This record gives sequence, C-alpha cells and structure tokens, in this order.
Amino acid sequence: EKAGFDHFMLKEIHEQPKAYRDTMRGRVSDDGQSVTLGEIGMSAEQIKGIRKVQIVACGTAYHAGLVGKTIIERLARIPVETDVASEYRYRSPIITPDTLVIVVSQSGETADTLAALREAQRNGARVLAITNVVGSSVAREADHVLITWAGPEIAVASTKAYTSQLIAFYLFGIYLAQTLGTVEQAAVTELLAAMNELPEQVESVLEQSAVLKQVAESIAKHKNLFFIGRGVDYAVAQEGSLKLKEISYIHSEAYAAGELKHGTLALIEDGIPVIALVTQEELYEKTLSNIKEVKARGAHVLGIANAGSEVEVSKSVDELFAIPKTLPLLSPAISVIPLQLISYYASLAVGNDVDKPRNLAKSVTVE
Ligand code: F6R
Repeated sequence: EKAGFDHFMLKEIHEQPKAYRDTMRGRVSDDGQSVTLGEIGMSAEQIKGIRKVQIVACGTAYHAGLVGKTIIERLARIPVETDVASEYRYRSPIITPDTLVIVVSQSGETADTLAALREAQRNGARVLAITNVVGSSVAREADHVLITWAGPEIAVASTKAYTSQLIAFYLFGIYLAQTLGTVEQAAVTELLAAMNELPEQVESVLEQSAVLKQVAESIAKHKNLFFIGRGVDYAVAQEGSLKLKEISYIHSEAYAAGELKHGTLALIEDGIPVIALVTQEELYEKTLSNIKEVKARGAHVLGIANAGSEVEVSKSVDELFAIPKTLPLLSPAISVIPLQLISYYASLAVGNDVDKPRNLAKSVTVE
C-alpha cells in the first residue's frame, strides 16, 4: 500500500506531480487559454457581486490560504482576508452577503472550519469549499465545491493536499480574473503554460532528495531554527516550519524576513540554521540584506533560490538549493517541496514515527 516507499508521507510527497495534473485536468481549455470551472456552479453575476473574500482554514490548509490571498488579490483585485478558523469564529468577522467565504480543508471534517462555514452562511455569505473529500461535511454544506484531486492522504503531515490546494487557488484566481476582466489574456496564457510545467519541475526537485537528506541530518542536530522569506516565500516558510515541528519535534519559527530586526534577531546566535526562501525576484535585494543580518550574527544559512539566480544568491548564503524557475506567483508549488523533504528526513534522523507524530490526529473533529 506504500507502493515501495518507506512511509506514506514519502509516497505522498512523490505523488505530487500526479496530484497537480489531476487537479488541473478538465479545468483548463484545450487551447490553454482559459480556466473552465463551470462545475462549481458560480454564475458570472455572482462573481461580479463579490466585494470581499475571506479564506478560513486550519493548519496547513490555512497556509495554503495565505498563498490564496496573494493569488486572488493579484489576479482578481478583490480584497482578501485569511483567518485561522478557530480565531475567525470568535472575532465577530464582518460577513456580508457580498462576501465570498472560502473554506479550505483536506478532510472536509475539521470542526472549526465547518463551524466557520455555518457562521458564514448564517450571515448570508456564499461559501466555496476547497476540499479533498467528495461527500465530506464541508463539501455537502458549502454552496460551491472545488475538489482537489490529490487522492487519499494517509500521513498525518499534509503534503500533496497542500500543494493541490495551491493548484485549486491558482485555477480559481484565474477564473475570477477572467470573469472580471482584471488580467490580460497574455498573462493568463503565460500562467497556464507555466502551470503545465510544474509537475516536471517538481519531479526534478524530488530527484535531488539525497542532497536534502544531508541538509536534514545536519539540521536534526539543532534544537532551534528559523525560516525566513518575503511575500509568498513567507507563506511557504510558515508551512515549512509547521511541517518540521510536526514530525521532527525540532522547534522552528517562520519570520517575515524584514521583521527580524524588530526583535527576533536577538535569538540568532552562532551556528543556528536559517532556511531562507529567495524566489521572488522583485524582493531579492531586500531578502539578501536580511540574510546578511543573520549571517553577521553567526547563522548558517541555507538559501532556497531559483535556478539561474545561484550566482547572485550564493554570495550571501552558506549553502544553496536551486529550484526550477517558474513565475513568481507559482513558486510556492515548487519551493515547498524541498521543505517537505527536509522535514521528512529530519524526522527520520531523530528516529520519530514519521507518519504518526505524537499527540496529533489526521482529522480534527473537536474544537
Ligand atoms: C499539518 C496538517 C494539519 C491540517 C489541519 C487541517 O500537516 O495536516 O495542520 O492541515 O488539521 O486539516 P483539514 O485540511 O483536514 O481541515
């Protein structure tokens, strides 16, 4: 059942290229010019009436929602808030009938996410569910459903569900933008062509697992580390940090790179590992200067950067892992892969039960 892999998590990490293809299948027109999401049953009129989007989810699905915010704001120019479901419910969120609430849930059974969905509907908002389980509670109760076709996810740590949620957000963001006329056709064509390349690009990262295993084994000797990044790199940093904590029990924090000097820099001491995501070209210089700040205080920095930028980035870091270059908005679908593998191998290195970390359940049906 693990198809020759040692753990479900590793199998599921390797299933991501397929999950990307399956989640895109039938949702892009044959000529590669548009996204077709008639299946969600949202009329053009309904889309044109959306004034605000609220994305609500827990854990890893919340992290996908952080990227979702950037995708929808950039492409459709609608303001988006992303909330953790257990916070959203109790903050008296301003939910109006022209709000679209997007709940994101792999299982479709998470108690707080389901309660947030009901709260949104009580206030007259429409709810779109992005979920991996057809017929789940969330799928049954939502007004619109966009299924991620990742297939069953067994490992407690979510991998292919997260990346399929990203793909769902790209598709939905483009769909909104095309309906609203907020993007040029050329930009859509370019995005869709780049999305088609993602599965092979992910494959090429998977082929470099041995390097990431080495990185993980050196990280596993530490008690603390940091992940830093800006923009969508910061969202991915948060997911990388959660994954590492969850299965290796090594403490880490994700920080917006520009925010370190407002307090956290005090924790940077000699030899502490810092994983820096540097995939957003327009932010390179800013992030590189933050890397210099931590290096000056003795941090050992692993940079995760686009192939082609090695020369520029390698001057500032101790080690560099290059990932295939894609459009800046799409980079989370690639940059998270090395972080998943680092977490996996770090968990192995410390001798944990990778697929069943302590204290955690796959589906959280308590509030
Ligand atoms: C982390 C993880 C959890 C889930 C969270 C939400 O790897 O798997 O953080 O993402 O419990 O679960 P779903 O998506 O089923 O609502």
